[in-house]
Amino acid sequence: MSVAEQARRRRTFGIISHPDAGKTTLTEKLLLYSGAIHLAGSVKSRKSSRHAVSDWMKLEQERGISITSSVLQFEYENAALNLLDTPGHADFSEDTYRVLAAVDSAVMLVDHSKGVESRTRKLFEVCRMRNLPMITFMNKLDRPGLDPLDLLEDISSTLNLRVAPINWPIGMGKEFQGVVDLRTRQVLLFSGGDKGASVLTTETMHLDDAEERLGSKVYNEVLEELELLEGAGDPFTEEEFFAGELSPIFWGSALTNFGVEPLLKFVAAESASPGSRMTSDGEEIRPDDDEFTGFIFKIQANMNPRHRDRVAFMRVVSGQFTRGIDVTIGRSGEQLRLSNPHTFMAQERSIVEEAFPGDIVGLYDPGKLRIGDTLAVSRRLAYDGIPRFAPEHFARVILKDPMKRKQLDAGLTQLAHEGVIQLFYRPDVGRQAPYLGAVGVLQFEVLKERLLNEYRVKCILERLSYQYARWISGSEEALKWLEDRRDYPVLRDRNDQPVLLSDSLWPMNFALQNAPGLELHEVEPL
Ligand code: G4P
Repeated sequence: MSVAEQARRRRTFGIISHPDAGKTTLTEKLLLYSGAIHLAGSVKSRKSSRHAVSDWMKLEQERGISITSSVLQFEYENAALNLLDTPGHADFSEDTYRVLAAVDSAVMLVDHSKGVESRTRKLFEVCRMRNLPMITFMNKLDRPGLDPLDLLEDISSTLNLRVAPINWPIGMGKEFQGVVDLRTRQVLLFSGGDKGASVLTTETMHLDDAEERLGSKVYNEVLEELELLEGAGDPFTEEEFFAGELSPIFWGSALTNFGVEPLLKFVAAESASPGSRMTSDGEEIRPDDDEFTGFIFKIQANMNPRHRDRVAFMRVVSGQFTRGIDVTIGRSGEQLRLSNPHTFMAQERSIVEEAFPGDIVGLYDPGKLRIGDTLAVSRRLAYDGIPRFAPEHFARVILKDPMKRKQLDAGLTQLAHEGVIQLFYRPDVGRQAPYLGAVGVLQFEVLKERLLNEYRVKCILERLSYQYARWISGSEEALKWLEDRRDYPVLRDRNDQPVLLSDSLWPMNFALQNAPGLELHEVEPL
């Protein structure tokens, strides 16, 4: 198969959702339907595994299968799917956002009794920055929830997104029996599945022939809803879906497997395959270009606690990756031989001999790689960087042993390069005693652990009360306005860009109204 054909059959995606919407459950069911695992378990021991450091580790502990990885690769029909983990619980961190730079589409999972929740909304905004195609899965239909039409309205108004239902639920809660495919008008009725442990039996028939099977009452309700729907949804077009303007909507229950298969079929057959990427010089690199290129979007240390290893996750953008390939790191110009690359099948980590656009390869990093690095064979390239997102938690380091200042500085610098935390500097004291910023609090825990284990520095983190950070741009005058007022803490980031911190949004809004030409950004301007 040519590189172009390999790229075309790849689907690289993430699932975004609010905690508890059912992401872990849906992940497991996608694996079940793809045949990557054969029996899903009733997930019971979850409470005892609260402290697992990733959703998937939790799944691993519960199910006894080995999927400790940040990406699951599996085949379905003719597609090769790469599902990237976007942690949503306590382990929510900047990584979650960065992963979205490496996918070509996302599945937005919504609990249909709750509608769009805060975390979903935030993740959605990150997807929107890249105009990512978004598929919506309304979950937990086996329980009572909002009226489906109201839910559609919630999605489209809260997210300012057009919606195109691909199927429609028949019943809800205990009466949830199946879905109607709105494009073919085929009714899919689900049964069996042993409470979600195994694949369901599906019965199909045309809607026109379904009255007897559904009973007149349910049948007429469905017809009525479909009529109302004509006025509510938008017709599906691939063009608008790929542009991130219109979201196809699916309904189901990850717990009981209802509706999982239509979702998976759509992802495999109709979702976005890897597209072109722009370099910072404005060159467009297509997936089927001859030269292999890729970029690093995540670095994870200590994947294997017995070896202190560090794995850099690379997304292949163009060409064919082969084991042992020599690459140039765009940022530093250094050469690196990628001799020990790993890929992640559903069951295990294994050496990868080749990979294609859309694939994720784990590279053992000798400490040369940073998040956002571009790798190419023969030249120094830079894909548009991976943005930094405004931290929401802040702290200051208190060093237990003042003799360890040097180690602390080295550790903080390296760990900030790896994207573990962000550093902000007070202009009056230079690069001494930086403030630490994190999107998720777990990042602080990881930092403390790693400082101790890798740099032998014991420290205490003193939490600061700031909750917001905004990058400042606009006129010189605006910056001066802020700096002249002593109640606005203006710091500098790693690139010396000014950043405003605050406990609340109010002073930021006040500044926006009063500082002439001030612009504040939630995402680092690139
Ligand atoms: P998350 O990764 O998004 O946080 O969600 P997760 O899959 O862990 O699911 C959160 C809870 O929602 C779990 O219940 C899970 O069983 C339940 N759930 C997921 N999908 C569905 C669904 O389609 N229908 C229903 N009714 N429930 C669903 P829990 O009580 O927190 O865990 P457990 O005690 O059942 O293990």
